Amino acid sequence: MVEANNTTVTLQVHRFTPRPERAERARGGSPFAKKSSPFGGGSDSAARRRPRGKQWVQEYTIPARPSDTVLDCLLTIKRTIDPTLAFRYSCGHGMCGSDAAAINGTPTLLCTATVRDWAKQPSTAPEVDDEGFRRTGDETANEPDVPAENVENNIPEGSLGVIELASLPGFPPQRDLIADIDPMLNQIRKLTPYLQADGVLVTTAEGKVDVFEYLQNPEQLAKYETLSNCIACGVCEGACPVYAGGDAFVGPAALIWASRFINDSRDTKAMDRMDAIDTADGVAGCQSVRACSRHCPRGIDVGEEMWQIVAKVRER
Ligand code: SF4
Ligand code: FES
Repeated sequence: MVEANNTTVTLQVHRFTPRPERAERARGGSPFAKKSSPFGGGSDSAARRRPRGKQWVQEYTIPARPSDTVLDCLLTIKRTIDPTLAFRYSCGHGMCGSDAAAINGTPTLLCTATVRDWAKQPSTAPEVDDEGFRRTGDETANEPDVPAENVENNIPEGSLGVIELASLPGFPPQRDLIADIDPMLNQIRKLTPYLQADGVLVTTAEGKVDVFEYLQNPEQLAKYETLSNCIACGVCEGACPVYAGGDAFVGPAALIWASRFINDSRDTKAMDRMDAIDTADGVAGCQSVRACSRHCPRGIDVGEEMWQIVAKVRER
């Protein structure tokens, strides 16, 4: 069925423009500050993770269908309304992991999130409860206290609702919806995310060495196959309340990559890999909150995998 396109959606985008480096220096910032500061000193330091700049929320109302993705909506805005809006994407269908962001506060991929699933109707319910606590999503989901006519009066005709967008939590924003995911990539890189195996040389009919052969049966493959689907999008890190930049905890994505090779029967460095994550900021940093499991776009049960790798490291 072809959907009529006389509906709209409103995107509330948390925008960010970093302060230019020159202006930072002109304001008296010392080029030696990083070295002398107890919070500085590394490329992933806390000081670097909190870039300064201008922040504001910008609202765009555009024509949209329920089946459009949030990425479709952002592309419409970029092409027809505001070319300055910055966001990152590549494949457009959940394969590259480059467009992770927070939609209505939940880390997910912009290209697989649809307007139908994420547009919220405005609520007239108070944001804090009687005791002064901020109401959670679960509490507001089934709220009987909002008279239907009040909500209807708030919605412009044809509006599918409002979607709130921000850059991926847990990472420093670079510009608008683009987060700096280098801290995660550096953590993954430190754990040597490639196969280290002793292959068997195969000879050709003439007796010359041809290629390395890495033999494995289906049962051995099944032990890490799901883990190899990780696209390093950072969604699990954005959902993890402990990660927050990777200083105290390497993060679920890095541990998934370590686990992928530890479980690979061909890899000869499993013990070294386990030593590398058997640290205070490694497996010991995981608090088993399991927030990481709920959002993985590649279907990895990250929390369960964390549990398994922690047990494996401790039992060795
Ligand atoms: S485990 Fe899932 S959520 Fe985490 S980085 Fe990999 S693909 Fe993304
Ligand atoms: S653009 Fe590649 S995963 Fe979304």
